[in-house]
Amino acid sequence: MPKTSPITPTEAVTSLIDSTDTVTPAVLAAMASTPNTRLREIMNSLVTHLHRFLLETRLTEKEYESGLQFIAALGQNTHDTNNEVVLAADVLGLSTLVDMINGGSERGQTMSALLGPFYRANAPERPMGADLAQPGTPGPALFFSGQVRDDEGHPLGDATLDVWHSSPAGLYENQDPTQDSMNLRGRFRTGKDGRYAFRTVKPASYPVPTDGPVGGLLAAQNRHPYRPAHVHFIVSAPGHRTLVTQVFSDTPEALAADVVFGAKATLICEFQRLDLADDARFPDAEPPFYTAEFDFILVEGVPSFPTAPIP
Ligand code: BEZ
Ligand code: FE
Repeated sequence: MPKTSPITPTEAVTSLIDSTDTVTPAVLAAMASTPNTRLREIMNSLVTHLHRFLLETRLTEKEYESGLQFIAALGQNTHDTNNEVVLAADVLGLSTLVDMINGGSERGQTMSALLGPFYRANAPERPMGADLAQPGTPGPALFFSGQVRDDEGHPLGDATLDVWHSSPAGLYENQDPTQDSMNLRGRFRTGKDGRYAFRTVKPASYPVPTDGPVGGLLAAQNRHPYRPAHVHFIVSAPGHRTLVTQVFSDTPEALAADVVFGAKATLICEFQRLDLADDARFPDAEPPFYTAEFDFILVEGVPSFPTAPIP
């Protein structure tokens, strides 16, 4: 027997798995010396819950194999224009739960909402008031404005709003060959008054991608794939916690049935329809067009930016 053997034969025999009850303790013991205590806590909990799930459902080998194939397909369907892994987490409510755990409104700050799979970093910087839509983008105009403030009501100058949304046909530019790259995306920087304004076209409700394994799961569950109409924002300012959120405007039914459970009551903003050609505030707008006014409240903290799911 080698001099340095770490386990005696008796110990080895007693630690062998001999029933469904002995698997979890064996795995927890194997992971017990993980030096990073947070990683240890997370992995212990994950393994314990996954094992319980297998025991509770008495998963068959065929079902287990299909589950593993589903996870592999998420990776295989993740590429430049689609992140199927994020999408799966979204339709299972995981992303919203993580968002609810971490984003609060306890100091009056604007609630956060999902980043989603269509965020692209480095959207063009645009002058205040500019149009997000490339010339010829069909759809009714939407004039969006508001103010960025801190939790004491002071306007936040030098705040950046990174904005993106789907077209009136319900497609992000990277899903749609008829749109230029970075159409309906842009970054704006506030002046001293904290105010922002831009023109765009009214976004529509849209289905999340259904051509991959997540689409198959939704169909098997008899679920629709739609998100209510919304505009995404990442609002940041020096010395303040970065806010990742969405502003929603849709019917109560569509908001309540969001396939990714992302719509929150405090993030609803009516897109108000105007039918008069001679509204002095919007002299060049062709009716009908829409206006939206939404303020963002940030709290002090360290700015941090999410990683873009697609380039
Ligand atoms: C989105 O709003 O872009 C989105 C969020 C979650 C899943 C799919 C799309
Ligand atoms: Fe979206």
